Amino acid sequence: MTAQIIDARAIAERLRAEVAAEVAELKARHGLTPGLAVVLTGDDPASQVYVRSKGEHSIAAGMHSITRRLPAETSQAELLAVVDELNRDPAIHGVLVQLPLPKGLDEQAVIAAIDPAKDVDGLHFVNSGRLAQGLPALTPCTPLGCMILLRETLGDLTGARAVVVGRSVLVGRPIAQLLLQADCTVTIAHSRTRDLPAVCREADILVAAVGRPQMIQADWIKPGATVIDVGINRVPFRDPVKAAAGKTKLVGDVAFKAACEVAGHITPVPGGVGLMTVACLLKNTVTAAKRIAGLEA
Ligand code: GUN
Repeated sequence: MTAQIIDARAIAERLRAEVAAEVAELKARHGLTPGLAVVLTGDDPASQVYVRSKGEHSIAAGMHSITRRLPAETSQAELLAVVDELNRDPAIHGVLVQLPLPKGLDEQAVIAAIDPAKDVDGLHFVNSGRLAQGLPALTPCTPLGCMILLRETLGDLTGARAVVVGRSVLVGRPIAQLLLQADCTVTIAHSRTRDLPAVCREADILVAAVGRPQMIQADWIKPGATVIDVGINRVPFRDPVKAAAGKTKLVGDVAFKAACEVAGHITPVPGGVGLMTVACLLKNTVTAAKRIAGLEA
């Protein structure tokens, strides 16, 4: 079998275009411009790339966008003061504090300080609690993107066996909740799972979110399964000349080439789930703006 590659680039582009159209309508009909604020603390190189992309895409969608860049030495009190200021700013409907935070800062306390109505990352316990209860909630962007890819690929997911490898707050746990809401039979597997390959082989839908380069092997995949690879791992090239030059490449959590011989559908890395994350952040910001303005329940 040769897997069909899920065209996340096209799906993300379409979603961004839909969001831009909705922003234009909110402006024209209600004088409402959705506003997103991203807070970057410190100088983590990957975070700088992600934050720049979030700013550029929100402007391209017609939104109000601000990026607050704070030095790595920022204190907890200073960071909380910035979050408080953004919580109060009526032009801002989405507040995202880029993670990881520099050492010494308490991520949980910072996330808990974000107004849940503006928590476009869906990480506040009010939103994760609402998600766990099946209530409307702002939902983490990467899991939301994975669900859109799955629905585009498979349509109705009812009754499918889904295995999520990874139990992070950002991806594993929320995507398991979303799969459950979609009437899948869900298993959350992790580093302590016994016979992980056998558990993965049961999956009609396999979501890899472990952060370990190419860990999921082809013989862990049920023939014809849909494989969603959330991993973004930077590794040295195998070619010794490139490796010696310090060059790196991005790979997922799935051994992609071999997996393509077994899976029915699969997302590539790069060019897969990562593209959906920013598109879903824009979508969440529009949702937050509409709810704050009383235009949506
Ligand atoms: N760092 C990597 N991914 C994310 C994300 O989705 N949200 C935040 N806040 N930080 C991240």
